[in-house]
Amino acid sequence: MPIFQDEVCNKVISLEETLDYFSSIDISDRDALLGGAPTLRALANNRTFLTKLITDELKDVGSLQKTNQYSAQVFTLGEGINFFMRANFWPAAHDSIFQASGARPFFYDVPHDHNFDFLTVGYYGPGYLSDFYEYEYDDVVGYIGEAIKLRYMGREALARGRTMLYRASVDIHNQLPPESFSISINVMTNFPDQITGTNQYMLDLPSGVITSLGNRTSLPLLCQAAAEIGDEECIDVLDYIRASHPNPRGRVAAYAALARLRESEAHQVWSDAVSDPDRHVSVQARIRLARLQGEAVAI
Ligand SMILES: [Fe+2]
Repeated sequence: MPIFQDEVCNKVISLEETLDYFSSIDISDRDALLGGAPTLRALANNRTFLTKLITDELKDVGSLQKTNQYSAQVFTLGEGINFFMRANFWPAAHDSIFQASGARPFFYDVPHDHNFDFLTVGYYGPGYLSDFYEYEYDDVVGYIGEAIKLRYMGREALARGRTMLYRASVDIHNQLPPESFSISINVMTNFPDQITGTNQYMLDLPSGVITSLGNRTSLPLLCQAAAEIGDEECIDVLDYIRASHPNPRGRVAAYAALARLRESEAHQVWSDAVSDPDRHVSVQARIRLARLQGEAVAI
């Protein structure tokens, strides 16, 4: 269960002060991030800053949220050292935007973990609901179809003034619409190696089966493109990546591309992958070998 902090805080601060505060701490330290909960709550007590930002954005509608990497649900607020801040809008099921777009754009009923820590506060409304689960990251191989053992931890709403620390690769949540339109504000830690290199899992419930990997990395798709149209030089590069890339998911993608480009040597390619030091690679290699040999897959 994410760590909730519900202590009353009457202080009011600006967005700039909040950005300065989170730039001043070692945000890679989970306890330090949690220690920022009263500061984030003090920003949530500021009832004018977000209205002003939204008004400014609407005035400049031609360049609406041009730096936003996310969907319209996310409103970027600024960034500091190794983090950025955003507001999230959570429509209720009866709101017209939900009726028009459905649940998916708002990540409702898409159970997932995160591969980074973040701190969030309820800013407006009763707050979106989450069913929370925990799991053991080190017990997971991380392939599509694998069933993760989940522990149900309960349901909570992020009501106005509540603060929650969401722990990377520990907490899983299934988000559900709030009773009425709600807004949360997030401090998102931002370490590129963690974002690309640590798997994020999207799941099916209640089975706990991994349905997709969510971490933002271009490497798997680029390897697949190489598998489609690669030449001899491409094979050399893929060979280097499978042997030396620090990200196991990247190594699997390189092995898969090599097995495709050297179809007659696919068995040898996956046999080599079995000795990879990371289970994410070695277990998937055994599955591929079993498939090549037409055997039932038993891990
Ligand atoms: Fe989430």
